[in-house]
Amino acid sequence: MASKIPQAFIDDLLARTDIVDVIDSRVKLRKTGKNYSGLCPFHQEKSPSFSVSPDKQFYYCFGCGAGGNAISFITEYENLPFPQAVEDLAKRAGIEVPKEDNHRSNDHLYQAQFKILDLAAAYFQSQLKSTEAKQLAIPYLKDRGLDGSTAKQFAIGYAPAGWDNLIKSVGLTDSDVSHLESAGMLIRHEEKDSLYDRFRERIMFPIRDMRGRVIAFGGRIVGDGKPKYLNSPETDTFHKGRELYGLYEARKATRNLEKIIIVEGYMDVVSLAQFDINYSVATLGTATSIHHLERLYKITSEIVFCFDGDKAGLKAAKRALETLMPSIKDGQQAKFLFLPDGEDPDTLVRQKGKQHFEEMVSAAMPMSEYFFSSLSENIDMDSIDGRALFSSQALPLIQQMQPSLLQQMMQERISELTGLTLSQLTSSNHLHDNYQSEEHTSYEPQESYDSYQYEPSNSKKSFSPQKRYTKRTANISLVNRTISLLLHHPYLIREVEPIAELSQIEEDNADILALLIDYWNKFPEASMGQMLIDWQDDQNYASKLLVISEISRLNPCPDGNYRQMFLDSWEKIEERKRDLTFNQLKKQQSSLKSNLSDSVKQQAKQYIEALAASHKKKSNKT
Ligand code: UTP
Ligand code: MN
Repeated sequence: MASKIPQAFIDDLLARTDIVDVIDSRVKLRKTGKNYSGLCPFHQEKSPSFSVSPDKQFYYCFGCGAGGNAISFITEYENLPFPQAVEDLAKRAGIEVPKEDNHRSNDHLYQAQFKILDLAAAYFQSQLKSTEAKQLAIPYLKDRGLDGSTAKQFAIGYAPAGWDNLIKSVGLTDSDVSHLESAGMLIRHEEKDSLYDRFRERIMFPIRDMRGRVIAFGGRIVGDGKPKYLNSPETDTFHKGRELYGLYEARKATRNLEKIIIVEGYMDVVSLAQFDINYSVATLGTATSIHHLERLYKITSEIVFCFDGDKAGLKAAKRALETLMPSIKDGQQAKFLFLPDGEDPDTLVRQKGKQHFEEMVSAAMPMSEYFFSSLSENIDMDSIDGRALFSSQALPLIQQMQPSLLQQMMQERISELTGLTLSQLTSSNHLHDNYQSEEHTSYEPQESYDSYQYEPSNSKKSFSPQKRYTKRTANISLVNRTISLLLHHPYLIREVEPIAELSQIEEDNADILALLIDYWNKFPEASMGQMLIDWQDDQNYASKLLVISEISRLNPCPDGNYRQMFLDSWEKIEERKRDLTFNQLKKQQSSLKSNLSDSVKQQAKQYIEALAASHKKKSNKT
């Protein structure tokens, strides 16, 4: 729609608008040198990092990175669509926006819809005073603990019984009726080709946007019946994935919201407000989306997710975590509150009161804590397998996070738990990526995540690292496996005797193994991370890193007794080197016939003996 407004007009509008004026009327600014500064309206802060440049006609926040011109400021600050923001600024500048018909008609349509929804809300509110409501709705609301002032605060109303009350009272003209229909308030009966009221015999909760305009409704049946709640359908002006019930009311009650609680239902928001807890919002029967989070973090620094203590609640918490993790930034806090099974904020606050509820909110679990505890719930963190499994699950999620202090701290926590250094963890990321992507082929990731979370018996089966290990390491070459073991446990090299001219064995990457062994013999304390850094800086080695990363990508370090695995691999490599030498000697022998020097003869004898010994050892074993 933005493209419908000619760019030339937008340029002209910006030229006629002073960004300092526009912002100053909304945010307190102070002149600091050439620029102006103030407290950023887009994140919570105590000292000003928000700066406006009159020269560049540009604003920028050094705290949260928000920035742009006068139009983008209005869209962000007022939460308006682009054309609306242009319209606002144009009005201010006293000029008219040239628009194509299409745009104009849409805009008019939206305005008409807002108007008709406002009228509908007023109608439902008036119906609370009807005899019918006095017999049904009012006792119901009273029974649920609501008083008149809370009902008023949320503009709660009542849609009476009958099929055409709203049409008759609000749809006075044909165009009113058509606006009611496009706003989702009416349903068309296809056979009879007639319209009837969508909401009947329901308590009506208007959903308002940030400016307080009614954009949709939720309607609760009085007493029992199905569906319990009926919501407006999605329309051009109502998107469930973006709107939050109660946000307008919360903002109205408190200008600076320290925190916001996200609850599940309309009645939770309203009941909390009844108990003077005016900072909760509800998603509209959908999961919390990234749009919800972005909107909330613009006006508060702390979000507390509130979940039922049942299985569905745990699932919802998982989902919220997955939405939250990739987006959360420094200065934003998230907490998880789990209510006792069978309770919701509405029942709880009515039972226990404001203070108790607020104490629970304060004691909610920080996101990082919930992340670690939920992920490690069914994993045996005392075993190496368990910790490897844990970090393979946790790391990719942490890697998705925005670079932040929180991310660093969470990484550090993993290294505490796994005993791997940060550089080992980060330089082996690709291992874990691989771990993940392989899961996609054999397991439906979402399902296994959940089942592992909630159905331990089932999960133990699908997540057995041992099983997966044998399956996946079946065709890894000896040298590659040795490299991968060594990358993760370099100190193992100290346990074995060096092999001379190892690089000669006829195996791919034997040269790299030889270089690695050289390196760790020289720098026995170095980690894989350090090795990578050292090699990056060295022309001769840098080219090998690509191969190494490919090896470790394809051969994640196996779990289990890696020391024994390494010793076994080493023995096999020794064997191959002996075979090679033996063959070489045999070749030499045949070409030179009897011209072998004594020392070579001696060498050959030694190798043959060693070979025989090792064969004997092997056959003894079996
Ligand atoms: P709940 O079923 O948990 O109801 O639905 P509630 O909020 O506790 O309602 P009360 O206390 O019985 O009145 C939570 C939210 O899920 C959506 C609504 O947004 C509701 O507030 N929902 C629920 C629906 O959209 N439709 C339904 O039929 C039920
Ligand atoms: Mn409830």
